[in-house]
Amino acid sequence: MNSFVFENSTKVCFGPGCAREHLPGLLAQYGPNVLLGYGGGSVKASGIYDEIMGLLKQAGKQVTEFSGIMSNPTYTKVLEGVRLVKENQIDLILAVGGGSVMDCCKAVSMGAVYQGDLWTDYWENISPVTFDPLPLGVVVTLSGTGSEVNGDSVITHEEKHMKTGHDYPRCNPRFALLDPEYTYSVPMKPMLASGFDILSHIMEIYFSEPQGPNVSDEISQALMRSLIHSLRIAKTDPKNYDARSDIMWIAAMAENRILKLGKKLDFQCHQMEHQLGAYTNCSHGEGLAVLHPAYYRRIYKDGLEKFYAFAVQVWGISPEGKTREETALAGVEALADFIRELGLPTTLRELGVDDRLDLKAVADSCSIVSGSFRKLTRQEILDIFMECK
Ligand code: NZQ
Ligand code: ZN
Repeated sequence: MNSFVFENSTKVCFGPGCAREHLPGLLAQYGPNVLLGYGGGSVKASGIYDEIMGLLKQAGKQVTEFSGIMSNPTYTKVLEGVRLVKENQIDLILAVGGGSVMDCCKAVSMGAVYQGDLWTDYWENISPVTFDPLPLGVVVTLSGTGSEVNGDSVITHEEKHMKTGHDYPRCNPRFALLDPEYTYSVPMKPMLASGFDILSHIMEIYFSEPQGPNVSDEISQALMRSLIHSLRIAKTDPKNYDARSDIMWIAAMAENRILKLGKKLDFQCHQMEHQLGAYTNCSHGEGLAVLHPAYYRRIYKDGLEKFYAFAVQVWGISPEGKTREETALAGVEALADFIRELGLPTTLRELGVDDRLDLKAVADSCSIVSGSFRKLTRQEILDIFMECK
């Protein structure tokens, strides 16, 4: 196993009613001024806003609202939040929402204390930073990104056409409240798209060196089987608690750094999707669904052992009568079938991408990762986008 340092500072409270049970005690540890971050209104329609606001008021907090955080949050929105923090002497940021709300609030927690140009230093140049962000707590309403248990905040700079993020452990939320019932109100499409994001995170970790048997990959296989099973149940029975709670915890497991220990990590597909998102504002999970099969058809021979194991252990494909390559490819096709089964988009057109989009510009803006089974060329990235048209 490769060397690693592991830390995860987020306190996780999980289960129905966990906000009522745990939020009062958690709030008592911070000063009176709270910035409440949320998205475009789903929290109001679902009643989650009323519950959280009631708990904040009972705790005697002075609440400043930071609303309208959009999917694929922009740096402009981050700066709006930073301004609110400074104007209201905020002691704690409480993010209530999905990955976009959590990421935007994380970015605000950094911007609120950083002296300098945070976009340039942190997101664009990835310069090392060593400061403690303002305390942040999160209440998850959509399971997918795993942002609740890591220090990553993925932010889009609109003018620069850049969507990027990386894990800064000091930016982990101080606490995360995970109530699976808070996710019941998510409409089917985003629920499944974010569910696919979870699968993508696990695959991006799994399909990287080392290829031989190792504990991370064994856990990943179990998580992928469980996730596929639970997504199938949630698709036909959205309020199935067992399925929704499994999905919520698998999302956290995929991104709490444990699976990544000792692995090189790929995340090339994420790099491509992020830039597609920077140019089109597409849904993250849906973009990944379009790109993954095309990417894996291109690289499966370079990671044959792992793709073979994926086919047999995750999809239950029998290797009988097939070569190792045929079995490995059958696993990739099983993944493509599953994407169709979930009703997620399989082409850029289905994703809503304009035919006139300059895919070469998108491809040229993508980072090329070093941890993948094979380092793609820029031409190959363009070819993948073209194949997905
Ligand atoms: O804005 P509202 O009205 O809240 O609606 C949201 C949004 O329209 C809705 N929603 C959330 N909870 C709901 C709900 N609707 C009804 N009931 C609820 N309980 O769902 C829609 C999508 O929300 P969003 O937060 O955008 O989705 P997701 O959680 O998939 O987050 C996507 C963002 O996270 C980034 C993505 O790139 C994208 O910007 N990622 C963050 C990562 C991280 N921090 O570790 C890693 C990921 O790979 C990813 O890049
Ligand atoms: Zn993702």
